Amino acid sequence: MTPLPRLLILGTGGTIAGAGASPTDSTRYEAAKVPIAALAGAVPGLAERAELSFAQPVQKGSYEIDSTDWQAIRETVRQALADPTLAGVVITHGTDTLEETAFLLHHSLADPRPVVLTGAMRPGTALSADGPANVLNAAMVALSPQARERGVLVVMNERIHSAAWVGKRHFSSVQAFDSGSFGELGSVADALPVFHRASDPALARRPVLDPGHGPDLPRVPILLGHAGVDAQTLAAVLATRPAGLVFAGTGNGNVPAALRGLLTRAIAEGLVVVRASRGLEGTITRDSPMFDDQATGTLTAGRLPPQKARVLLMLALAAGVDRSAMQALFDSA
Ligand code: SIN
Repeated sequence: MTPLPRLLILGTGGTIAGAGASPTDSTRYEAAKVPIAALAGAVPGLAERAELSFAQPVQKGSYEIDSTDWQAIRETVRQALADPTLAGVVITHGTDTLEETAFLLHHSLADPRPVVLTGAMRPGTALSADGPANVLNAAMVALSPQARERGVLVVMNERIHSAAWVGKRHFSSVQAFDSGSFGELGSVADALPVFHRASDPALARRPVLDPGHGPDLPRVPILLGHAGVDAQTLAAVLATRPAGLVFAGTGNGNVPAALRGLLTRAIAEGLVVVRASRGLEGTITRDSPMFDDQATGTLTAGRLPPQKARVLLMLALAAGVDRSAMQALFDSA
C-alpha cells in the first residue's frame, strides 16, 4: 500500500477552535478552546488522506497575537519543514489577523512546499460551522503539487488566496476573505483544489527576510489618518520610542500639514516611517505635491495595506535591512 503523504497541522486558536453555548450562537462564543488534535481529528475524511502530526505553539484569539507568537509559529513551521518527508503544513488561525500571520510567513519562509492558513467565521458548535470544510480544503491544497512555489496560501470558504493579496473584508459573513483586484488563485470543490492561474513568478520570487530567533520583532505602531488628526496624537506615539512607524493616511497616504514637521524631524532623527493608505485598493504614488518622500526620507507602502506594511517593516528592521534598501522591498512585495 502506498504510504499517505505527511502533513503537519498547527493550531493557534481563533473561532475555528471556539465553542459557543448553543448552535445559534455564531458570533457569541469563546475563541481558542479546542486543542488542535481534537479539532482536526473531528474533520471527516482528513485522516484517510494524510498521515497527520500536530503542533500547538499558540492557543488564543488572533486579536491577541503578537510578534512573540509570530516568532513561535514561524519557528515551529521552519523546524517542521527541515524534515524532507513532510508534504506541507496547515495552520488554523483566528480570522481577525490571519492575513498578517500569513503575510509574515510569506516573507520569512523560502521553502517551496505549501504552507496554508485557514480559519472559521463560526465556532464548531454553531449551525453550519465552516471550520471542518475549511480544514479539509486547506489540507487538500497543502497536499497538492500545484500549490508548490506560490508562497504562503490562505484557504477560506472554498477559495484559494495568496497571502500577498488576501484580506478579511467582512467581520461576520462566512464569505469574509477576498483578494481585491488581484483575485483568487483558485477554488476547492469536493476536496479537489483547482488553480485558475499558473504559478506567478512575483509570488515565487518574493523578498524573503530572516528575522532571526529573537523573542519578538521590533515595535512598529500604525497611526491612522482621519479628518482632524492632530500632532498631539503623533507626539504621544513618538514618545513611546518605536522602532518604526506606519502612517495609514487618507487617500494616497496623505500627511496633513499638522503632522509634517514632527514626522519629518522624527525621520531625520532615525525613525523609519512608511506612508500607507487606509483605502482598500491602489498603489501609493511617491513624491506627490502634498509630501516629498525623497527629501524627507519617507518610505511608501506600494500596494500594501497598513497592517501588511507594518509586518514587512518589522521583518526588514529585524533582518537588519538598510533603510536605503527598504523601498525596493515595498515596491516588490
Ligand atoms: C479571532 O480572530 O481569533 C476571532 C475571530 C475569528 O477567528 O473569526
